[in-house]
Formats: sequence, structure tokens, C-alpha cells
Amino acid sequence: MVKYFSSLFLAVVLFLAAASPASASRPSVYRLTDYGARADPRTDSTTAFSEAWNKACSDPNPSTVYVPHGKFHLRDIEFEGPCKSNDITVHIDGTLVAPSDYSVIGNAGNWIRFNEVDGVRISGGILDGQGTGLWSCKLHGRKDCPVGARNLHITNSNNVAVDGLTSVNSQKFHIAVTGSQNVKLQHITVHAPGNSPNTDGIHVAKSSFVTVLNSTISTGDDCVSMGPGARNVWIEWVGCGPGHGISIGSLGWRFQEPGVENVTVKRVHFKETTNGLRIKTWARPSLGFVRNVLFHHVVMDGVKNPIVVDQNYCPGNKNCPSKASGIKVKDIRYKSVAGTSRSKVAVRFDCSRTNPCTEIKMHDVKLTYVGGGGRGNKKAATLCRHAKGTTSGFVTPMVRWFS
Ligand SMILES: *[C@@H]1O[C@H](CO)[C@@H](O)[C@H](O)[C@H]1NC(C)=O
Ligand SMILES: *[C@@H]1O[C@H](CO)[C@@H](O)[C@H](O)[C@H]1NC(C)=O
Repeated sequence: MVKYFSSLFLAVVLFLAAASPASASRPSVYRLTDYGARADPRTDSTTAFSEAWNKACSDPNPSTVYVPHGKFHLRDIEFEGPCKSNDITVHIDGTLVAPSDYSVIGNAGNWIRFNEVDGVRISGGILDGQGTGLWSCKLHGRKDCPVGARNLHITNSNNVAVDGLTSVNSQKFHIAVTGSQNVKLQHITVHAPGNSPNTDGIHVAKSSFVTVLNSTISTGDDCVSMGPGARNVWIEWVGCGPGHGISIGSLGWRFQEPGVENVTVKRVHFKETTNGLRIKTWARPSLGFVRNVLFHHVVMDGVKNPIVVDQNYCPGNKNCPSKASGIKVKDIRYKSVAGTSRSKVAVRFDCSRTNPCTEIKMHDVKLTYVGGGGRGNKKAATLCRHAKGTTSGFVTPMVRWFS
């Protein structure tokens, strides 16, 4: 009898163990190498990655796609949603490497794209776009160069977190977020040479509630750029340089264009960048706007143009539009901005003659001019066209507002 009960007891215990929620909901892990991927330059791991993603995406429970250590070579790839669960982690310990022949993905737009996903976390990893060949094509002014692919593009998605990712040598923009809500990028490292064309670090457009935290960006174009429809963007603890600074724009190429609003840029450090804090719009009619922007606690270290609003934006100065910009720039605050400028004009407000900038507020801004060699401490100057605003606290160089 005792024996009977004890074996019944054992059976019950085993049954409970097997059916316990803890084991039932343990996230499944889809390992890239279980789907034929190999860390080997002769193996193309694109299909393996797609298969692992498809498994995770059709899994109703939380799951992880796992990329082990090593270098995995991939062509362009799309991770498509919607998925069955809104808790998928793509954990990358290794490096993903784009084809060295730039023509393979050069016209694909994106190398790695997440589209229509909700609740995805991308953690760790190095993305190597191998962009050098394409940059050299572009730098030699050849007309047949493809436009280039972004290393990572998050499109039409919600609730995405990217943490601890490193993006190097992207052909074009490194990381872009479009048509998405609630995207958090943190501990991101972006690296490309200062002369690599069009390699913006992080680009945000038509998206809302995007945060960029604790990241280091050195690249050949804007460290962070915000295009039409970027709203509720928060950027904090970012180091930029080399690069073209943190930019809103370029805006106003189109007539019908969503505006940019509620942007906070806080505790950022620019080192030897061409620009610091910049708003740039084309000199064309447009319904767009920029409003409610706060730049706070910013350090400029040998920045060529620390503060810029340029409503006659036209890089290269070729075939420039010559209308007045329709973009309305309003309520822009510069608070605690200090450091050194490599050009005499440290503050440049070149606003639209038909839509002057309004409510520009400067509080505690201190910029000095250090000249080319980085030596000396000379007086900086301001250029102010069609900009209305106020200063408070200690502001130098002095601003003579438009009235
Ligand atoms: C970001 O960096 C700052 C300064 O180094 C640190 O105090 C803060 O805890 C960091 N935040 C995160 C989320 O890592
Ligand atoms: C502005 O953006 C921040 C996040 O970046 C958000 O917390 C805040 O609610 C937004 N404010 C408005 C009025 O939308």
C-alpha cells in the first residue's frame, strides 16, 4: 500500500513538474546556427536568419532569436511582422557582415529592416555595412554609384528597443526609424570615417516617442537627424564627433510636409564637428514647421558652426532654390550651451524672410572663437536675419534680434 501511494505521489509530482507554467512559458530560443548559418565568409546566412525569425514570429510565446559569436555574412534581409507574440528578442553576440561588393545591396534601400513589428528588442551585436567601396565610388564623383543601403531600418513598427548595438561603416544612414511609435535606442555606438558620404548616425522621420540615450556617434554626416514628422523625440547623453552635428532637417523640400515638434536634446557633447545644433530648411514654399524644441546642457568642443538655423539650406550650393522657406520655426530654446567655435560666427540665425523665426530663447549661452589651430580665445560673433527672440542669463556672443 505504502509503495502504491509513494509511486502515485511520484507520478503526481512528475505530472505537476511537466505542466508547471514555469516550464511551459520558458522562452524558446531560435539559434541561427541551428538553421544552417555559419560564422564563415563563404557561407551566406541570410536564409538561416529568415527561418529563425519566422519561427520566432509565429511563436505565440515570448522567444529569442540568438546570433552566437562570430562573423555572419548576410545579404539584405527583412524581418516582417506582425508576429504572434509581442515579446521577441533578437540577441546578437556576433557580428553581421554585409557583402563587400556594394552593388549586391546598394539599391535595396536597407540592409537589415524590421517592418510592422510590435514588441521587439534588439540587443548587442555589431553591424558591419562594409561601405568603403561605395563611399569611394561617390567620392570619386562617379555617376553610376548606387544610392546605398541603411544598416538598420525600423519601419511601421511599435515598441521597439535597441540596446547595445554597434553600427560600423554603413553604406548610407546607419540606423533609421520611420513610421514608428515608441522606439528606444540606447547604448548605441556608430562609427564611420568623418569623410564617408551620407552616413547619418540615427535618422528619425514620421515617428513619435523616439528616444536616443547614452550613445556615441562618430560618422561622416549628421550624428542624429530628424526629418519631416519627427515628434516627441528625446535625445540625452550623446557624444557626437566627427560628424555634422544634431540636425532637424533638412525640411521643406515638399510643399505638403508634416512638421517636427517637441524635441529635447540634452547633455550632448560635440567634438570637432562641422555643426552643433542645427535646423535646416530649403528655400521653398512648404506647410511644414519646427516648434517646441529644447537644447539643454550642450558642450561645444571646437565646433565649426555651433548654433545654426539655416533656412536657405543648399549643400554644395548647386541649383539652389531661391524662394523664401515656408517652414515656420518657432519656440526654440537654447539653455546652458557652452564651449568653443572654430569659426567667428558661432551663432547663425538665417531665417525665412516671409516666415521669420519666432520665440527663440537663449539662456546662459557662452561660446568663444578659437580659430583654426584651436588656440586663442577670441570674441565670437552672431549673424541674425529674420529671427525674433529673447535672451536671459549670460549670453555671449550678443544677439541683435529682428524686430
Ligand atoms: C547614461 O549615462 C549617464 C552618465 O554616464 C548615467 O548616469 C546614466 O545612468 C546612463 N543611463 C543609462 C540608461 O545607461
Ligand atoms: C514630448 O515628448 C516627450 C518624450 O520625448 C513626452 O514624454 C511628452 O509627453 C511630449 N509632450 C507632448 C506635449 O506631447
